[in-house]
Amino acid sequence: MKRDLLTILDLNREEIEGLLARARVLKSWHRQGRSHTPLAGKTLAMIFDKPSTRTRVSFEVGMAQLGGTSIYLAPGQTQLARNEPVADTAQVLSRYVNGVVIRTFAQETVEELAAHASIPVINGLTDSHHPCQVLSDLLTIRERFQDLAHLKVAWVGDGNNMANSWITAALHLDFTLYLACPQGYEPDTDLVQQAQKTGKRVYLTQDPQAAVADVQVINTDVWASMGQEDEAATRREVFKPYQVNAALLQLARPEAMVLHCLPAHRGEEIAAEVIDGPQSMVWDQAENRLHFQKALLEWLLG
Ligand code: CP
Ligand code: NVA
Repeated sequence: MKRDLLTILDLNREEIEGLLARARVLKSWHRQGRSHTPLAGKTLAMIFDKPSTRTRVSFEVGMAQLGGTSIYLAPGQTQLARNEPVADTAQVLSRYVNGVVIRTFAQETVEELAAHASIPVINGLTDSHHPCQVLSDLLTIRERFQDLAHLKVAWVGDGNNMANSWITAALHLDFTLYLACPQGYEPDTDLVQQAQKTGKRVYLTQDPQAAVADVQVINTDVWASMGQEDEAATRREVFKPYQVNAALLQLARPEAMVLHCLPAHRGEEIAAEVIDGPQSMVWDQAENRLHFQKALLEWLLG
């Protein structure tokens, strides 16, 4: 049976652990210059309704390194833009390619594509989730802190797609997650409730200082996500107290790492002194998208 990655909830804990372990192996092989081409003859279609640097490039490079090829379908460049049904597109692509990455607005679009495709569908970001980013961020964290069970992770800022994916990760793994979001900008209420009902250590607050106290990982993201450009000015005012700056970082553990999925806005959600400072892991974080997604592609398409 084909498998999809629409949210992190599509995986179980063992599968997440397996992918993280495999990504570390593939990363070390890559560093050694060792060729590994299990996807020779396979093709990945990449439907993008929003811009992308990291997701697009890391999936394309990942497919190439695994011996396969990819086809980038730019915003507005398929018949989807002229209202060809998602279900029909799913059936047609299933006759040509071995897997699809889709970046779009509604999570329902990704679900519909997966429901009608006989090939694996990977969510490359929707308004609600960004599973590939958070799973590869777990790889970045693991490289520094082996023991996730005793890890305290903070999310500071918008309760957006990234925040939701962090909650889904916490539903499967044992780390403690503190989310500091302004009122009215909280993550998915159902996910928060699910975490709380199942006894997971997921805590929501409006106080960024409380959220980062004693944590080993601080995460943030843009204040206005793709598709929210019209709200950017309002959001800049609302989110001002949520900037990750040196004063906030001081409250975390001295060994704390700072993550940002990028693109970043220095002086808004993150101060330049932090993102360009010694505790920032953002470049390793961006690199790890490649290694994690190669493990994912190998597993889903191999
Ligand atoms: N972090 C991330 O997904 O970046 P892109 O939007 O550049 O793909
Ligand atoms: N929350 C951001 C993430 C970008 C990778 C957005 O959706 O635009």
